[in-house]
Amino acid sequence: MTLNLTMSNLDHGDPNLAGLFDALQGNILKSHGRDHSRHVFLRFTATPEACRAWVAGFADQVTSVAGQYAQTCAYRDSGTRSLFTGFLLSATGYDALGVARPDQPNDPAFQAGMKDVTTDYDTRPRGDHHRTPNPLNDAPNEWEDGFQTRIDALVILASGRKADSDGAEELLEEDLGKLTDGARGIAEVVHVEKGHAMRNDLGQVIEHFGNPDGVSNPAFMRPELDRIRRLRGGFDAYDGSAPLGLVLLRDPGGDDDTDYGSYFVYRKLQQNIAGYRRKCRELAEKMTEAATVLREAAGEVETDPPAFDEEYTNALCVGRFRDGTPISDYAAPGTTNLPNNFNFDLDVRGMRCPFQAHIRKTNPRTDTHREFGAPQTVEFSRRIVRRGISYGAEDLNPTDDWTDAGLLFLSCQRSIEYQFIFMQHAWSNNQMFIERGSGLDPICGVANVGETAAPQRWPIRWGIPSGSLAGNYDASTPDYVDYTFDDVVRMRGGEYFHAPSRNTLRRMAD
Ligand code: HEM
Repeated sequence: MTLNLTMSNLDHGDPNLAGLFDALQGNILKSHGRDHSRHVFLRFTATPEACRAWVAGFADQVTSVAGQYAQTCAYRDSGTRSLFTGFLLSATGYDALGVARPDQPNDPAFQAGMKDVTTDYDTRPRGDHHRTPNPLNDAPNEWEDGFQTRIDALVILASGRKADSDGAEELLEEDLGKLTDGARGIAEVVHVEKGHAMRNDLGQVIEHFGNPDGVSNPAFMRPELDRIRRLRGGFDAYDGSAPLGLVLLRDPGGDDDTDYGSYFVYRKLQQNIAGYRRKCRELAEKMTEAATVLREAAGEVETDPPAFDEEYTNALCVGRFRDGTPISDYAAPGTTNLPNNFNFDLDVRGMRCPFQAHIRKTNPRTDTHREFGAPQTVEFSRRIVRRGISYGAEDLNPTDDWTDAGLLFLSCQRSIEYQFIFMQHAWSNNQMFIERGSGLDPICGVANVGETAAPQRWPIRWGIPSGSLAGNYDASTPDYVDYTFDDVVRMRGGEYFHAPSRNTLRRMAD
């Protein structure tokens, strides 16, 4: 029986899915949830036969969906900690194992590899299938050395949670040592990244600009969907569920029922924390000045001059305040439990959540249907599942620019070209999306080659016409300020991977 990829709301105990859950790697349908990790990049050095035998033997160490669930239950019930292990292959990795290109997963970006900037990709939304070279504007010769080299495989080791992570780092170092020893003569470790989740006072995972991260991720499993229903507002304004087909594809040559995998995009993204916060403050000052002028022009008495601050402009950049409150629904922070049941239907001019806001660029929540008449299902099928983790010092307020800190971005998808590349190129980097003047995504947008970043429009009247600053005003006076917010995140290196099922890894022995 072929697996039905339109399924969602899956139950761990479903006997029909037992084979899939035993074969499919963890951390795809649900995050592994650990706070410490090592990303170990390998290059195969032995003969294809020897490498295949090693990979087949390694399959038993790889954590499956079922294994991850058992680990979660054991931790919940008795505090038992265990290691999560993921195993991903690049196209050169498949080559080194002797798997011919036509027998490898066939996503064009996967096969080309991230260092390739010559392949053209189909990045156009409206069916004209215009092809673009280097849609991510990458400059691999500027990447860190560890990423300039050939990377065949990535092993993800993860363990420990913040509240209970004594010794997690030391144990991970031991596990890394065991991996290195076990692979000796087969593969060499060419690079290692250390990831660690940072958490705020509420225990929510945050990134270095201080915002909760990993909030709005497509959900597949019933417990996660239950949590969305109970805590995050439900599904009527935005459906956060997703079908298996958003992330899974059948392994070439694999069984229709059980042998599925996913593509992973890995990008080390350095964050300029001091620069970001400075820009937020500059923008806030500009907005305060402009709002004062606007009031005066409208003849309003300035008893309570509107004061914009870093908290507010950060929310304009991200689309959520630092407590997760979506700015499209609320003019100030104050919600709990990271709401996710919202869309931009009451904000069609982008006067609450600007069009360039990171979450509006990367998940327009049916804006494309309203603006272009695009089918809602098409926009939803572009979604990705994020499984990244922060790296570098936990200082959220450093004095220097470009400290060694950022995000080890990791996303799962069924198609790298159709989902990740499209999202980054056609939405975040596209200054005309969703309309002329929207500008770059201030968090991760990069101007295309030959373009400069134009100023984005930043609204100074939340929620017009019924917002906090509503009143009579001269319509010829703009209700936004122009400010160029860019270059706070830089790409330091990465690669495209595929996570095959454990069955496929085992079959490598044949
Ligand atoms: C250092 C770089 C980045 C930072 C600091 C960052 C930060 C954030 C934050 C704070 C959120 C909101 C909370 C949440 O929903 O999880 C978010 C959401 C999101 N980000 Fe990023 N992000 C980065 C890079 C990227 C990249 C490169 C992409 C893909 C092109 C991306 C795609 C998304 C998506 C799809 C969402 C969910 C939007 C939604 O459904 O509402 N992010 N990110």
